[in-house]
Amino acid sequence: MSLCDLCGLSFDPILTMKTIDRGRLQSLMQREQKKFVEERPKSKALFERARKSLLAGVPMNWMVKWAGAFPPFVREAEGAHFVDVDGHRYIDFCLGDTGAMTGHSPSATVKAVEEQARRGITLMLPGEDSILVAEELQKRFQLPYWQFALTATDANRFSIRLARQITARPKILAFNWCYHGTVDETFITLNADGKAGPRAGSIGPPVNPAITTTVVEFNDVGALERALAAGDVACVLAEPAMTNVGIVHAQPGYHAALRELTRKHGTLLIIDETHTICAGPGGYTRAENLDPDILVFGKAIGGGIPGAAYGFSQEVAERIGARQELENCDVGGIGGTLAGNALSLAAMRATLGEVLTKKAFDRMIPMAERWMAGVAKAIADTKLPWHVTRLGCRAEYLFGAKEPKNGTEAHDAMDFDLERFMHLYAMNRGILLTPFHNMALMSPDTTAKDVDRHTEVFREAVEGLVG
Ligand SMILES: Cc1ncc(COP(=O)(O)O)c(C=O)c1O
Repeated sequence: MSLCDLCGLSFDPILTMKTIDRGRLQSLMQREQKKFVEERPKSKALFERARKSLLAGVPMNWMVKWAGAFPPFVREAEGAHFVDVDGHRYIDFCLGDTGAMTGHSPSATVKAVEEQARRGITLMLPGEDSILVAEELQKRFQLPYWQFALTATDANRFSIRLARQITARPKILAFNWCYHGTVDETFITLNADGKAGPRAGSIGPPVNPAITTTVVEFNDVGALERALAAGDVACVLAEPAMTNVGIVHAQPGYHAALRELTRKHGTLLIIDETHTICAGPGGYTRAENLDPDILVFGKAIGGGIPGAAYGFSQEVAERIGARQELENCDVGGIGGTLAGNALSLAAMRATLGEVLTKKAFDRMIPMAERWMAGVAKAIADTKLPWHVTRLGCRAEYLFGAKEPKNGTEAHDAMDFDLERFMHLYAMNRGILLTPFHNMALMSPDTTAKDVDRHTEVFREAVEGLVG
């Protein structure tokens, strides 16, 4: 849905477009940076100490990219909120970039994890929980067979390996500006001349990804057909709506074409629901009746306890089974010592059974609608050429008037400085957005008051920007 559809205001972005005065942005940013540092002496001291033992002062490299001079160090988190070491309380719309979409430490998951931790954490043997989780996933996604991994990245990597093996084809197809975790094959983009190469920032690619991957724009049926016609593509790896370059929705008919063309050319369709699970308990797949060959779901599946699942159709399961080789199955490049461990499975059983339920989505989705309405109204009132969009319980504003129809359009609308300002402004007022774009995710614990506070802060920020 676009801004105008939502708020009913007629608004011609070309005629009324307001541009951001960069000088003003810079001085507002300086003010916010100062405020951030002054109000967080304990985080600052911990960051200075951390620099002596952690590379760049953080436990994982991306954590340096938060908009402040250092990340706020966290004291504790619960539900839709967390408190930093300086005592600031935040409304968390980032939710660990979906890992904590359940709300932080949901009591059912915590109870299951506490109980399981006392009864054995990892054994490399199955327990009944693995069956209970697979049965639940069968119901949600209508795929009969399941396997487990520790991360969505791994589940994607294993799915790709299996697709290559059963089709005996070398390549995968990915969409321009997609993100599926740290899967080597997917770190590929098209340059302005339409030539494929390593994505900017890709660290030490093992080979030029153009050797392993065909990349096309999302929503371009013609390009997809031409790419698949080569007959060398084992699988398409797709988020059913792109969520990692801002939200890019599938255009009407695109999924039908994607399914038809992959079948026609003997290519398997892997749907990565790791983020699009926000569309409902069965993800985008059930909400829109998709029919993938393989489906991947990670991050939130265990309430943040590491775990991921990947499922197969009957036909894919049979093709995999026909090639299974007992003697070498432990060195096939699929699995992992801790994959399918008892603790992860207990967390998944409780999270799926008691936390990420239909009842929870019935609360979360209206919260995202409310968030979107508040942002849309502020954008319309300030006449900024931005728009806001939503997928289930996930909503996002983008710095462009029109909804992007592919990764390039979404990427072109990104504005690093503006984004950092919006994030820092929000953080300084107790709101955390998902970093690296402008996304907000609702948990079962997010309240209307939390959402309205975001609306208030967003309005203040944009009014300050336009002067
Ligand atoms: C769609 C999608 N798939 C897979 C992943 C990888 O998840 P993880 O980093 O937990 O392996 C991500 C991470 O952001 C993602 O957005």
